[in-house]
Amino acid sequence: MNICVVGAGYVGLTTAAVLSDCGHHVDCVDINEVRIERLKSGNVPIFEPGLEELIVKNLENNHLTFSTKVEEKISKNPIIFITVGTPSLKDGSPDLSYVESVIDKIVTSITSHKTIIIKSTVPPGTNENIHQLLLEKNVEPDLFDVVSNPEFLREGTAVKDMFEPDKIVIGVKRPEPLQVIQKIYKGVNAPYIVTSLSGAEMIKYASNAFLATKISFINEMARICDAYEVNVSDVALGLGTDPRIGPLFLRSGLGYGGSCFPKDLEGLVYAAKKKDIQPELITSVQKVNDTQIDIYVNKLKTVVPDLSCKKITVWGLSFKPNTDDIRYSASIRLIEKLLEEGATIQAYDPVVKFEHPEIICHSNAYDSVKQSDILIVATEWNEFKSADWSKVQKEMKGNVVLDGRNIIDPRTVRHLDLHYLGVGQL
Ligand code: UDX
Repeated sequence: MNICVVGAGYVGLTTAAVLSDCGHHVDCVDINEVRIERLKSGNVPIFEPGLEELIVKNLENNHLTFSTKVEEKISKNPIIFITVGTPSLKDGSPDLSYVESVIDKIVTSITSHKTIIIKSTVPPGTNENIHQLLLEKNVEPDLFDVVSNPEFLREGTAVKDMFEPDKIVIGVKRPEPLQVIQKIYKGVNAPYIVTSLSGAEMIKYASNAFLATKISFINEMARICDAYEVNVSDVALGLGTDPRIGPLFLRSGLGYGGSCFPKDLEGLVYAAKKKDIQPELITSVQKVNDTQIDIYVNKLKTVVPDLSCKKITVWGLSFKPNTDDIRYSASIRLIEKLLEEGATIQAYDPVVKFEHPEIICHSNAYDSVKQSDILIVATEWNEFKSADWSKVQKEMKGNVVLDGRNIIDPRTVRHLDLHYLGVGQL
């Protein structure tokens, strides 16, 4: 099948790479010339395991092309995936201008039938509005189908998640495009959930809101566990064995980050309020996440009351391991807070190269702890789980370790006379 993917970001690149590998011909387009030039030579601008290999392979066998000729490729291909960004605006509503500009380009070039598949996360009602917009712009109803097909991939495992999703969610206005969708995903083995356009949009929002709720729940439990000297990881283990709850997304820490959860929760709150619904639970989930860093900086202050002029090393800058994405990273928010407290920050991340006038970034974990008073583990990279703690202890000036992701065995570090602090962890 001939497919055009509009938007060469995380979702777009993974979609283009996987669909071209399934045997389709995919033109991936973006207005960012620098990005497209790099991609043409197989240079992938994001760190995502397995993605570059897949792109290079499919560029070589001509299943995949990259281009800035957005109108031309939209006009040429019968199937259009929209995977452009929907960042939050100041009022919490998502900025749909990129999606709308793609629709304008479809309107101006449409001469034959297009299946328009929206993968970008958009608030409930958006796909329906897009359908109406096309009609208002005098596009014949038989000339297009709008399909909502939200994406559930996780950064760090994006390729695997797209080849092996646990479901394919499809929102349609009529059954006709379903056959097209099945052909597109013929290489992907997953159950289909077919619903309305708004139903599909709502599944995506509900899914992220629920996962964020699990995280904020366990983070609130961590605070209570701290007060009662209970290990929250024992509580999570006990909870997670109940199949009605499940063990995943119960890792307590400095809070969730990334480009999806914070933005999608804001989008859902905005959508609810627009209909005069006050979303009590979801706003509490956000509040727990927003206050988690302050609470654990305060815990740190019970041991080191004055952080000003203290040398603090932060391990991990990305919002989670196996990605170089620092969007809404808890680590970056933590660093900002520590800088406000007057601390000096040294940092190390296995892949992120961060440039900041007030942060000294190191290219080696052990160099980064030299002469430090405090070490904070902010992202759960494997490298930190298997750190040589006697080496760390020798390099540090002070002895305080805040394990912001509960990945260190407290006994190992305490044995070396390091002062261990965890998140709801004794
Ligand atoms: C998420 C959803 O999982 C995915 O389905 C959706 O398509 C996009 O948003 P992603 O943002 O890549 O994916 O990361 P995810 O692995 O879900 O983690 C999000 C954040 O939650 C990270 O900051 C992570 O550290 C944090 N997290 C996750 C926890 O703090 N505890 C957990 O138990 C799990």
